[in-house]
Amino acid sequence: MSERLPGFRDFYPEPLPTPDAWSCDLRQHLFARWRETARRYGFREYDGPPLEPLELYTNKSGAEIVAQLFNFTDKGNREVSLRPEMTPTVARMIATSERAYKKPVKWFSIPQLFRYEKQQKGRLREHFQLNCDIFGEADVSADAEIIALLIDVLRGLGLTSADFVIRLSSRQAWQRFFAARGGDAAKAYEFYQVVDKIERERPEVSAEKLAPLGVKLEDVRAFIDSSVPEPELQSVLDNLAARGLADFVKVDYGVIRGLAYYTGVVFEAFDRKGEFRAIAGGGRYDQLVEQVSQGSVKLPALGFGMGDVVLAELIKSRGLVPSFAGRFAAVVVIEDETLRAESLRLVQTLREAGHAVEYALTPTKGDKQFKRALELGALNTVRLERGADGALTARVRNLATRADTVVAPEAVAGLF
Ligand code: HAM
Repeated sequence: MSERLPGFRDFYPEPLPTPDAWSCDLRQHLFARWRETARRYGFREYDGPPLEPLELYTNKSGAEIVAQLFNFTDKGNREVSLRPEMTPTVARMIATSERAYKKPVKWFSIPQLFRYEKQQKGRLREHFQLNCDIFGEADVSADAEIIALLIDVLRGLGLTSADFVIRLSSRQAWQRFFAARGGDAAKAYEFYQVVDKIERERPEVSAEKLAPLGVKLEDVRAFIDSSVPEPELQSVLDNLAARGLADFVKVDYGVIRGLAYYTGVVFEAFDRKGEFRAIAGGGRYDQLVEQVSQGSVKLPALGFGMGDVVLAELIKSRGLVPSFAGRFAAVVVIEDETLRAESLRLVQTLREAGHAVEYALTPTKGDKQFKRALELGALNTVRLERGADGALTARVRNLATRADTVVAPEAVAGLF
């Protein structure tokens, strides 16, 4: 049997064939919560192409993502890549059409993204990512708004401040730190990348990389340990505190983000127990629209991306996955085959009335049909019966209470 590629997933409807299979029902649940929360914050949905010109990423996203591109030459000799992230695409869409929209523009999308990463816990070669971005607002109140949205997306799934925390940091703060030590502005991104890896890297290696940049590891450590909010972070904290969301955030200069385009406040969401990789990450990127449009459109921007992989693992581990059974209003049981035509008519009427209804396609024993109704988690069974006078009635059984109601067939739809 041919196998699927490593790092890619099959999504099955529940009940799942194996405990480690990916659930399409859970995926839809995440997407529904994502859409619902984005709507409450006034975000509109957009989408772009899954395949883009390679150059959209090679000079904008940063070395790490470029090394992970799924790129190839197409049949028209174009250098192309599957999208590893949504931000360059949305920056291009905004740069081309921003005049048609009132500012600030608030947009969201749920793209499937592709990165040729080493497959590991929480990291695959494709994932879905909620992207929420705001364009055209330079004030830090927009940073607070996007972080409040991130918090509410996670709360919308049942997670609390005991489950996750947003680690807040600032590229500007790090830029000031670097400049104060005589750092060369052209090497700032090189410096950020060392800081980005500091938690995972051996201290000798980080110190060695910092030396030519004129920075001491102890100084970097001391700045991270200080956790004193710089002014832009203090305003974000005050804004979130005013909303009652202070418990969900903390200043952590250990976060700096790997991507090249960030320019201001940056943040990552983590589970409190530290069991998983980042749930989400984002920040301000005030120069990307200008870069993507070769200088023709200048628009401040900020946003975040939240992947479905870590999130699904987290909500499973916290017992927050709802039951996906019970979707059928009724199973129409056909015990008497002479009533099949009338039963089909009833099935059709109920479906046209908007109810999910199932029935046996071929003659099947009554008890088997009943068992199937229970397996499907149907709320009711409906059985047509012909009385001695030839009149049809429908016996509706509520499967939770086992109580029967007998009504005229036309009245069944009104009971659900
Ligand atoms: P990112 O940090 O590369 O940011 O990805 C955001 C989130 O996507 C991660 O925290 C993680 O949950 C998920 N993710 C990333 N790579 C993988 C993977 N290989 N497998 C599973 N999940 C993954 C960005 O992509 C930015 N473009 C986000 C952004 C939007 N910044 C501003 N606007």
